[in-house]
Amino acid sequence: MPIQWYPGHMARAKRTIRELIRYVDVVIEVLDARIPVSSRNPDLAELLERRPRAVALNKADLADPAATRRWAEYLRAQNAPAVPVDAGRGTGVRKLLALAGKLAGERPTRRGPARALVAGIPNVGKSSLINRLAGRAAARTGENPGVTRGRQWLKAGDDLELLDLPGILWPKLDDGLVALHLAITGAIPEERYDSIDVATRLLGVLATEHRAGLQRRYGLVTLSGDGLETLAEIGRRRGMLRRGGEVDTLAAARAVLGDFRDGRLGRLTLEMPPSE
Ligand code: G4P
Repeated sequence: MPIQWYPGHMARAKRTIRELIRYVDVVIEVLDARIPVSSRNPDLAELLERRPRAVALNKADLADPAATRRWAEYLRAQNAPAVPVDAGRGTGVRKLLALAGKLAGERPTRRGPARALVAGIPNVGKSSLINRLAGRAAARTGENPGVTRGRQWLKAGDDLELLDLPGILWPKLDDGLVALHLAITGAIPEERYDSIDVATRLLGVLATEHRAGLQRRYGLVTLSGDGLETLAEIGRRRGMLRRGGEVDTLAAARAVLGDFRDGRLGRLTLEMPPSE
């Protein structure tokens, strides 16, 4: 899937992150628990300059809990301790705060409360998480990369301060599978990919690994191995027809992607940690 993250945009984001990291003792890296590989920025490790990182496996409410546990174990072993979080409801946020405080405390750079930056790719839940960590409606929303001037620190618990704006990381879109997973989860805007293609490929994956949720949701008795055929069948069953009776495949594709993103096909994780 040929999706580009504009090189100019990427260079600017990298500069900004590098600048922000200088001010903090710990980085809270937000990943999407359904796609921890694809939502991870490949250059962050180098940008940290030895600062510790705490990982928030966010949207854990939408991910398979057993897979999320495995991810947390895997990341701990990789020296990136992780906490499953649902920034929407606030689950896991206290634990994350404690972890970030502990990691920051191991490397005090100044007097006073430790300082943290929340960073992640677009749409992974950074603003929601800042709001949860610092109390409702604390964070400014909107994605503005020109942040360092006029920044504010928000109090998060007794021992930690958060930068009021998140650090925006760029995804590695040159990898086709990564781009596909980002499109499926809604991390990239719809105009940047072909919804029919993405939904078709999602249906292909679900047909092999999560048949039950798929059949239950759409009332399918048999499942074709062909994603496009399944998509047409879903459209027919939903009455998504154009004038003339032909199935509106785009409408069906959008419905399937919406169902996945809202958890209506079950709690699904698309990427597993590498096995030992
Ligand atoms: P960002 O700053 O990283 O770009 O992400 P943001 O917080 O704006 O969140 C992106 C979308 O993800 C929002 O949905 C938000 O509600 C949702 N979200 C964030 N964290 C979680 C979570 O832990 N679980 C679930 N299920 N959703 C989460 P939206 O549709 O863009 O907006 P809205 O529905 O909140 O209006």
